[in-house]
Amino acid sequence: MADAAARRAQVAGGLLILILLPLAHTPSHAATPARSSSSTAAFQLQGDVYPTGHYYATMNIGNPAKPYFLDVDTGSDLTWLQCDAPCQSCNKGSNQKCPSPQQCDYRIKYTDSASSTGVLITDNFTLPLRNSSNVRPSLTFGCGYDQQVGKNGALQAATDGLLGLGRGSISLLSQLKKQGITKNVLGHCLSTSGGGFLFFGDDLVPTSRVTWVSMARSTSGNYYSPGSATLYFDRRSLGVKPMEVVFDSGSTYTYFASQPYQAVVSALKGGLSKSLQQVSDPSLPLCWKGQKAFKSVFDVKKEFKSLFLSFANGKNAVMEILPENYLIVNKNGNVCLGILDGTAAKLSVNVIGDITMQDQMVIYDNEKTQLGWVRGSCSRSAKSMSFLP
Ligand SMILES: *[C@@H]1O[C@H](CO)[C@@H](O)[C@H](O)[C@H]1NC(C)=O
Ligand SMILES: *[C@@H]1O[C@H](CO)[C@@H](O)[C@H](O)[C@H]1NC(C)=O
Repeated sequence: MADAAARRAQVAGGLLILILLPLAHTPSHAATPARSSSSTAAFQLQGDVYPTGHYYATMNIGNPAKPYFLDVDTGSDLTWLQCDAPCQSCNKGSNQKCPSPQQCDYRIKYTDSASSTGVLITDNFTLPLRNSSNVRPSLTFGCGYDQQVGKNGALQAATDGLLGLGRGSISLLSQLKKQGITKNVLGHCLSTSGGGFLFFGDDLVPTSRVTWVSMARSTSGNYYSPGSATLYFDRRSLGVKPMEVVFDSGSTYTYFASQPYQAVVSALKGGLSKSLQQVSDPSLPLCWKGQKAFKSVFDVKKEFKSLFLSFANGKNAVMEILPENYLIVNKNGNVCLGILDGTAAKLSVNVIGDITMQDQMVIYDNEKTQLGWVRGSCSRSAKSMSFLP
């Protein structure tokens, strides 16, 4: 499994770059009357940054419902799962076949050149509401019959597909909103110790302490972007010009363009004691070993300082990036930098990936077009999470 994480190290797996056959013929639910009250569906997550390389939710789909593990991806819109061609196992019981199959084809390509090709189908999803009842709306998603692994192995991981939670109209959240089931708000809480939770709807959004920033129009693609940020290390400006960032839970690691990346690397190196030695390690481009093998980031975090992103779109809107939000300790007991060179990975934006969003509730509010975050433990044992009502 370490290999999966290492392969993912080079990619931002979740970034959608294009859908070749657009989704104009997607069955529409626009005519469904909106219910007066909407609710919140919540899901436990599994997975971690290392060694799994992604966080995933179990979605129960079909009649009768079958469980599928789907990689949570706020960096792309289309939900799809691997199906047997020509889509026999994934729409059993559904009476909503494509009226004209070729119009329902899709092909989606991700920035690392991974892709999925298939047909759009509609079937019932079982969504657990917080009041312990289920709703079973019928939602449109992709039934993929041809998946190409990216240059670096993304989409090869042990999931059944991808949960597309981006801003587009094919996104599950847009569909749930159209049907009056939940508001177009989602949030996730990814734990540093693995697992966490995901929710659709706004009931779990804390009423205070959240740092909010207006969503900006991303200059490349339809990403969730809090706009431009200035980068600080240990409260000192790193002297790089403000950089546009996007939040993407489909990316394991964080990617900065070459200039801020190099600035971070030299600032970090400058602050380290002699007890840490740079080593070459296949997991990630930059790793250090200590006098003894480390067991967790918490054994070594005192050697490192926080980074900060200060956003122009919000009043005093700062995201602190603690050492555990940019470092991993791998199976060799080395500590490695989980911020990677996005220019080298041919990314056109700076990507805040899972590693940096851990142990904060991150909220994507498409109703008020704002993004928010609030720090708190996301571990399963913290059921009474400090920020939950
Ligand atoms: C739970 O909430 C939904 C939507 O608000 C409602 O339709 C349903 O009746 C509720 N179920 C229970 C058991 O209260
Ligand atoms: C599946 O969804 C359709 C459309 O929303 C609904 O009419 C039907 O009752 C759902 N099926 C089940 C088993 O809940």
